[in-house]
Amino acid sequence: MFQPLAYEITRLATSLSEARAIAEEEARLRDTAQALWTPERLRISVQSKLKRNRLFAVSNREPYEHSYQGDSTAWRIPPSGLVTALEPVLRACDGTWVAQATGDADRETANDLGQLRVPPDHPQYKLRRVWLSKQEEGGFYFGFSNEGIWPLCHIAHTRPIFRTEDWNQYQAVNRKFAAALLEEMHGENEPFVLVQDYHFALLPRMLKESRPDARVALFWHIPWPNPEAFGICPWQQQMLDGMLGADLIGFHIQAHCNNFLATADRALESRVDQEHFAVIRRDHETRVKPFPISVAWNGEDAAMPASESSATERARLLHRLPIQAEFLGIGIDRVDYTKGIPERFRGIERLLELYPDYAEKLTFVQIGAPSRTHIKRYQDLMVEVEQEAERINRRFGTGTWSPIVFLKRQHSHEEIQPYYRAAEFCLVTSLHDGMNLVAKEYIAARQDEGGSLILSRFTGASHELPDALIVNPYDTDELAQAIHTALTMPADERQARMARMRAVVKEHNIHRWAGNLIGELAEIRLEPAKAGQPERRDSRAQNNVIRFKTAEAGRTTREIDEELGITADSVCQMLPATPPNGKLSALL
Ligand code: F6P
Repeated sequence: MFQPLAYEITRLATSLSEARAIAEEEARLRDTAQALWTPERLRISVQSKLKRNRLFAVSNREPYEHSYQGDSTAWRIPPSGLVTALEPVLRACDGTWVAQATGDADRETANDLGQLRVPPDHPQYKLRRVWLSKQEEGGFYFGFSNEGIWPLCHIAHTRPIFRTEDWNQYQAVNRKFAAALLEEMHGENEPFVLVQDYHFALLPRMLKESRPDARVALFWHIPWPNPEAFGICPWQQQMLDGMLGADLIGFHIQAHCNNFLATADRALESRVDQEHFAVIRRDHETRVKPFPISVAWNGEDAAMPASESSATERARLLHRLPIQAEFLGIGIDRVDYTKGIPERFRGIERLLELYPDYAEKLTFVQIGAPSRTHIKRYQDLMVEVEQEAERINRRFGTGTWSPIVFLKRQHSHEEIQPYYRAAEFCLVTSLHDGMNLVAKEYIAARQDEGGSLILSRFTGASHELPDALIVNPYDTDELAQAIHTALTMPADERQARMARMRAVVKEHNIHRWAGNLIGELAEIRLEPAKAGQPERRDSRAQNNVIRFKTAEAGRTTREIDEELGITADSVCQMLPATPPNGKLSALL
């Protein structure tokens, strides 16, 4: 009878101590004059929001990939905006990141459970790797995620392909990641979980059903289309239902949130609270909010070495290519059909037609990291990009000058910086893009307040950066004119635009994104009745780990039950809190 009262009193006391902690934190940040979000401010904020709870992140892409180089192993950071964005959060709170193992030396560099501390040169948090079979990777990553959902969510005129076998693998891999996460979360009270991206639409519900005490956020890094477009997906209801297991769903911009709410309203039995931007389904509320992702800000870092002038740097880069030119433009992308790379090459071509004076003066360098190369559409695109560059170079090039240089390999962050600093303009011409972090990286790199950003109006970034030269990438003439404008703009106007864009990126940096996301998640009120007692909860979670793992091995729970002569549920009741070698699979 007194239980509800006791709960309310405990909650009140907790709220009071939370409020005090937050006030103290704010006072501390004021004292250290940190109005700006910095790694330190994020660390303090995350720790005060998490209290004693642990943070878990899950993504398909891992932050560090090990490969063999001769007899030894080396590591690299894959080209992924998601990795750049999440890393500071994990570092700030010594969290656990669960991701797919993709390096050929990944096994050798982790323990038997696939765990290791990273960054490899300065360990600050735990990475738990999950291995997929060729078949799983084919159906889950290349198939359903990247031939289905990716073109479904981007309006770039590539048809989505939905195969039942891919969908089966997508479900199985979501279960496999759920099992790995539940193992990692075992014994942790009220954990925070940040699920990343369209690879894991089903994961929030799987987690929440096993661990109702967890606070689960899903951040969707790509656009969300209108309900008609999303309705093409034969499994739209299952996808939406899986996502709505989360307490919080984040998109980059409000328009994507609105599309999502409209889709949920149209496709599912649910109630959409338009006023509070939430969906209520099966008595569970999911908040839907925009969190525009960004980059780290070290734009005025006094510790950074004073760089050469952009003119000197430009001359050095061009000399190395080797190209004789006066003006340099830059584009940096994964080679993906959403990025509008052939469109921007045609913009350069049109510029040379309209303004022949740029011949032998302007070179555009496109850095293109090969991506998703097993998919035919990506193979075709690579051929198209190479052929377009060759065609335009044949048409205008001379012995010592080419209008386009295509550098086909992934470049590290350090290799890219000189290009950003030296280029008179950066071309971001996505046909559709959730945010586009290249646009923000270019701005962050321009400490000299030089350079112009030419930005597609179909990127999330264009909503925050009206001082860019905003273009429609399908309009080749507009693109050519924008490049001409960038090159002929009065210096003071160029500087004023860049200064304003820098102020936006400085304030709305990645630490703020992470701080806001975790802050919002911390405010979610857990439903105590559903959370249950820790012992019962842990046993339910362990039960689900078994279910997920048996399903993964292609066996039904009933088959296991029959083989054991007892039910999987009753096995779970008998399980010790921590299984013999920490692995539940050992019990099967
Ligand atoms: O833009 C969406 C996204 O999933 C990012 O989050 C990620 O950085 C990028 O695509 C890379 O894709 P992939 O992991 O398939 O190489």
